[in-house]
Amino acid sequence: MKAVSTYINKNKKRYLDELIEFLKIPSVSADPKYKGDVKKAAKYLQGKMKEAGLDKTKIYPTKGHPIVYGEKIIDKKLPTVLVYGHYDVQPPDPIELWDSGPFEPVIKKTKAHPKGAIYARGACDDKGQLYMHVKAFEAMYKNDAVPCNVKFMIEGEEEVGSDNLEIFCKANKKLLASDVVLISDTSIIDNKTPSVTVGLRGLSYVEVEVTGPNKDLHSGVYGGGVANPVNILCEMIASLKDKNGKIKIPEFYKDVKNLSSKDRKAINAAPFSMTKYKKSLGIKEVMGEKGYTTIERTSTRPTLDVNGIWGGYIGEGAKTVLPSKAYAKISMRLVPNQHPDKITKLFAKHFKSIAPKGVKVEVRPHHGGFPAVTPTDTDEYKAAHLAMKDSFGKYPIPVRGGGSIPIVAMFEKVMGVKSVLMGFGLDSDDIHSPNEHYGLFNYYKGIETIPLYFKYYAELKAKKK
Ligand code: BES
Ligand code: MN
Ligand code: MN
Repeated sequence: MKAVSTYINKNKKRYLDELIEFLKIPSVSADPKYKGDVKKAAKYLQGKMKEAGLDKTKIYPTKGHPIVYGEKIIDKKLPTVLVYGHYDVQPPDPIELWDSGPFEPVIKKTKAHPKGAIYARGACDDKGQLYMHVKAFEAMYKNDAVPCNVKFMIEGEEEVGSDNLEIFCKANKKLLASDVVLISDTSIIDNKTPSVTVGLRGLSYVEVEVTGPNKDLHSGVYGGGVANPVNILCEMIASLKDKNGKIKIPEFYKDVKNLSSKDRKAINAAPFSMTKYKKSLGIKEVMGEKGYTTIERTSTRPTLDVNGIWGGYIGEGAKTVLPSKAYAKISMRLVPNQHPDKITKLFAKHFKSIAPKGVKVEVRPHHGGFPAVTPTDTDEYKAAHLAMKDSFGKYPIPVRGGGSIPIVAMFEKVMGVKSVLMGFGLDSDDIHSPNEHYGLFNYYKGIETIPLYFKYYAELKAKKK
C-alpha cells in the first residue's frame, strides 16, 4: 500500500489536470444538442482507462448514449469488483446563476472546502467521483497492487433514467459477471464524518398537461367564463397533499414497508444539526410529513414534488392572456416495496379523476427507478467499512440516501449482484444546481480509499476459501 500512496502523491497534479480536461466536455445527456459532446466524453474516458492499464476498453453504443467498458482480469479464481459510474451530467441551467462557466472548471476555497473545491457541472456528480476509480486503479496497476479482478462499466444515461443500461446488462451477462458493484455517486456526512449509503429511494416521474380552451384567449373578454388551466392545475396539485404533508393519492402508501422503531432510532442517530441545515438553505423552518424527522423525510419516506410548472405568458411585462394550456413535471420519490410503474398508474388515475369537466388532462410518464437497500453484514460492505476507517481514521456510519441510482435495484434483479455505495461528495456540493463543486480533499480521499477497499475486499474473500 505504501507504493500505491507514494505514487498517488507524486501524480497528484496530473490526476487533477486530467479531471479538469474531462469536466470541460459538456456531456449533458438530457439535451440532444450535446450528443456529440457526450460521445467525446466517452472517448476521453476510454482513452484514460486504457492509459491507466485497463484491458479490452471499448465504447459500446446503445440506442441512446454509449457505455464505456474496461477490465483487468488477474486470475479467474479471484473475486471481481465491477466499478459503476456515469459520465453524463445534468443540464447546467439556469446558466446565469453560475459564478463561472459550468464547463470552465475553476478551483476556489470555501468554508466546507478550505483546501479548495473544483467548480464545474459534473465535478461531484459523477465525473469527479468516477474518475477517482480510474486514478486509483492506475495507482494499483502501476505498482503491481491489483488484488482481485476489476471491471469498469461507466454509462452516459444515468441522469435520464438509465433506460438502455438494463438492455445492455441483459445482453452482456458474461462480460459483466461480478461479485459486487462498487459505486461512488453519493455523499458522506461531512469531511470528518464518513458514511456509507445503504439505501436509495426509487422514482416515478410524470409530466402533466392541462388543456382548457382550444387557444389562448383575451383574459378580459373571456376571463371568468371558462376554466383557466393554470388556475386549475394549481388547485389540482395543491389537493395532492393534506395539511400534515400526507400524499392523498389512494393506495399511495399501500406497499410502503414501515420501519421498526429500532431501525428508526438507528437512522436518527446519525449526526444532524437542524440549525446548520436551515442556515445552509436560507430557511426559517423545515416542512414535511408530520410525525417524521428531517432525516426520515429525506430518506425513508416517499415524497411528491413539483419540479417545474409553466403555462401562459412568462415574458417581460404584462400580457393579458387566458392560457389554453398548463404543464407541470412531478417527481415522486419511492421507498422499499413501492413499485414505480404502479405508483405512476395510481397517480395518473387519481390526477385524471380530480380534473373538473372544463379541462382535459394528460399524464405522460417519464423514466422511473426502483428503491434499493444494501446489506451491511457482507464482506462487500465490511471492506468499505475498513477502508474508510483507515483513510478517515473513523468508521463510517451507514445512512440511507434520498436520491436515486437506477442501476442498484436493476443490477440486483438482472445479475443477482448487490452494490456498495461508497461515495465521497457532500450534500452541500450543489449537485444538479448552479455552482456544483467537488472538494479536492474529497477527490484525493476517494483515490486513497479505493485501493484500501480492494485490499480489504480481496483479503476478506480469501479468508472464506
Ligand atoms: N448521484 C445522484 C443520486 C444521489 C445523489 C444519491 C446524492 C444519493 C445522494 C444521481 O446522479 C441522480 O441524480 N439520480 C437521479 C435519478 C435519475 C433517475 C434521474 C435523481 O436522484 O434525481
Ligand atoms: Mn450521480
Ligand atoms: Mn445526478
